[in-house]
Amino acid sequence: MSRAKRKIEHIQHALSTADQGASGFDDITFVHQSLPDVRMNDIHLHTALGELSLSSPFFINAMTGGGGQQTFEINKGLAEAAKHCRIAMAVGSQTSALRDNKQRGTFEIVRKVNKNGIIFANIGSEATVDDAKRAVDMIEADGLQIHLNVVQELVMPEGDRDFTGVLLRIEQIVQAVQVPVIVKEVGFGMSKETASRLEEVGVKIVDIGGLGGTNFARIENKRRSSIITYFNDWGIPTAASIVEVAQTFPSLVVIGSGGVRTALDAAKAIALGASAVGMAGPLLRTLVEQGVEALVAYIEELHHDLTLIMGALGAKTIDKLQRVPLVIRGDTHHWLTERGFDTKVYSCR
Ligand code: FNR
Repeated sequence: MSRAKRKIEHIQHALSTADQGASGFDDITFVHQSLPDVRMNDIHLHTALGELSLSSPFFINAMTGGGGQQTFEINKGLAEAAKHCRIAMAVGSQTSALRDNKQRGTFEIVRKVNKNGIIFANIGSEATVDDAKRAVDMIEADGLQIHLNVVQELVMPEGDRDFTGVLLRIEQIVQAVQVPVIVKEVGFGMSKETASRLEEVGVKIVDIGGLGGTNFARIENKRRSSIITYFNDWGIPTAASIVEVAQTFPSLVVIGSGGVRTALDAAKAIALGASAVGMAGPLLRTLVEQGVEALVAYIEELHHDLTLIMGALGAKTIDKLQRVPLVIRGDTHHWLTERGFDTKVYSCR
């Protein structure tokens, strides 16, 4: 099957597959504060990913491009909403355009629409230094995402079967490209062990891409004749994954994503240690089913709601939101305790 056809199938199956659930955000409760001592007009949403300054912690995570006209239209719509709402946006994997010039336009449209916006390029872990540089140049990217998607590849009938040499390639890319590199998962979560190996080779920003939202094992299973069920619930739930990486590596910049669906989910991700939150599936669904205006309204509502939540918690900035007290219960508490993390760090601060 051609890459372009696969892109279209991913979109169709992502739209028809329900969210995984179990991101772990339901296990997190903020400790209410009756004296927040804050003026709502003083609340600011800007944040930083290393050297990149963002006016909002929300961004549109990597989805598409490389599947002809339909993916051109989707990237155009996503870019219009990103520009209007002044949020960052990642394009989907650019491998197709690196191999086939005809697909470049489906990615380049994002920069054409949003000349001054923050845009992330996206490549897979098989990419070389040359691939990485070309992907960044293609859209004059401000950052480069490298996605790790082993389980997706294993379930994908035509997927990769050789996962050697990835860390070395990431190290070479980090050293060679001029923009910040973000290593991301695609919905299976990142462990502290993975983060440790990434940190050792110089990675400074990770998107933990946890379990709980769009599920690529289920999506790939829809493309198979014989279903592999045992990967359908595989992975580290997003809330637990953020803690695994953020608590173990305070120097790493952590992005929380995978099943972030509301401003409350986003606030919890940030309070657990994330500096920004990526969203993919629900933004695609809103755009495809309701159009750009509806997508803009959705993102504006997220901003509005996050501001209200920060007001209730007395957190004027994203930085302050990262330090508010919260209690971790249930499966997430169990996971973190078993993995040797101290959950009192969050409840008693
Ligand atoms: C994705 N995602 C993705 N990620 C990536 O790094 N490169 C890619 O090409 C794609 N392609 C892609 C296509 C479609 C249709 C979807 C919905 C998603 C994964 C995405 O960036 C994100 O990590 C996951 O979707 C989890 O976030 P949500 O959807 O639960 O918010």
